[in-house]
Amino acid sequence: MARWPKRKAGAASPRLPAFAGIDSVAPMSDRREELRTPHPPASAEFGHVVPGGPAHRYPPSGPVDVRKFTVGRYDNNVYVLASGGQALIVDGAAEPARIISEAEGLDVVGIVQTHGHHDHVGALHALVEMLDVPVLAHPGDPMPVAAEVLRDGQRLVVGSAVIEVLHTPGHTPGSVCFHVEGFLVSGDTLFPGGPGNTRGDRTDFDRIMESLDRLFRLPDETRVLPGHGLDTTLARERPYLEVWRARGW
Ligand SMILES: [Fe+2]
Repeated sequence: MARWPKRKAGAASPRLPAFAGIDSVAPMSDRREELRTPHPPASAEFGHVVPGGPAHRYPPSGPVDVRKFTVGRYDNNVYVLASGGQALIVDGAAEPARIISEAEGLDVVGIVQTHGHHDHVGALHALVEMLDVPVLAHPGDPMPVAAEVLRDGQRLVVGSAVIEVLHTPGHTPGSVCFHVEGFLVSGDTLFPGGPGNTRGDRTDFDRIMESLDRLFRLPDETRVLPGHGLDTTLARERPYLEVWRARGW
């Protein structure tokens, strides 16, 4: 179960590697179009949000209330997971004032990172400064601020909600997903239409597919909340899992 340690003093984590570009699903040529999974419509049903627009609030599921909005030049989704007056922020990506405003009135207990890519960490310095809460991340990805360790199978308690941490390497070595009450916050590991970008690296692609095999053990109705763009469900994507594996991206 989780504990929310006070932020420890100490040196920041190693510097980030050079940003390798936006990291949603790999670009598709016309030739590949036939392999594309039908994309969800840009509607509230699939968590459509726009830069500067209002947050999307999902119908409460059990003890957890989920809020989604998009920030920054790469349209990163940030999620606020709230329960019992407490809140956990997923991805301190950009626009720290907006992130804090979306958690107004809640006791923010921490910030968790789906991974360490440049576009997902840009607000961390400011958020730590303003909120004085711990940042938690898998040690496989360097962070620009001191971070507590997230491990596979760890359970984080926020109010009366229990959030399970799933280590899902492939997009990056330290990518993680968060599973809570029918929601899967998937970072850049799973999108509508396939796995996140593995840059043509066969080893990383095999690794992310192993991670997806694990995620797809969750129930069909699980709602997938990715790091960019629209939501999907495991039911929508499941028929294409072997298509993705065969195409190799
Ligand atoms: Fe990424």
